[in-house]
Amino acid sequence: MQQHAIPVITIDGPTASGKGTVAHRVADELGFHFLDSGALYRLTALSALRRHTDLADEHALAKVAEHLPCSFIDGHAMLGEENVSQAIRQEEVGNLASKIAALPAVRQALYALQLSFRKTPGLVADGRDMGTVIFPHATLKIFLTASAEARAERRYKQLIEKGFSASMEDLLADLQARDARDSQRAIAPLKPAEDAHVIDTSHLTANEAIFEVLRLYARIKHSA
Ligand code: DC
Repeated sequence: MQQHAIPVITIDGPTASGKGTVAHRVADELGFHFLDSGALYRLTALSALRRHTDLADEHALAKVAEHLPCSFIDGHAMLGEENVSQAIRQEEVGNLASKIAALPAVRQALYALQLSFRKTPGLVADGRDMGTVIFPHATLKIFLTASAEARAERRYKQLIEKGFSASMEDLLADLQARDARDSQRAIAPLKPAEDAHVIDTSHLTANEAIFEVLRLYARIKHSA
């Protein structure tokens, strides 16, 4: 099958909108491959921190992204031989990922890598610019959103369940700062593609959101 004929479902949205869970489950249900594009920015950030790359040097950061020795094995993010799934979820890494994601050279360096995930029988791509920049001709584009309060509450529950302490006020402020940075940057800002289906998950369970995405995809497939 020609690459452009392989189905792609893009799922974009702000942090803690539930898109990771929804995208994963939709990929599982359909037997599709999965691209967690945020993980690529996080892997770049982690790699730059470990190599003591000058964080003010866009060109050097782009080189790190371009030569990222990354792979995904059984859902684990690998840097070389090391499983860094936990390490890339650290707050410091997430914050740096959000900063370097605003650099055009870094985004360009990760472009071809993201396209390479499009393989038969199909791909579910999770991110911020999957439907607007990376896969503008995707079969189905979803933009998942939820109020900042609903997202902060979800994050709060996740942290408490994992035994961490957390403050709702700090979480809300952090989410809002990250949203502002992701949506106001000049390049590939977080925004729904014009032809995206916007789903507000504030009052939906994960299962309801997954069902809605699968329903939309089935409708497209049947009309094709
Ligand atoms: O989805 P995430 O929180 O793992 O993403 C980490 C950072 O990477 C996030 O702050 C925004 C950035 N990102 C991006 O700019 N474009 C993407 N397609 C995915 C993530």
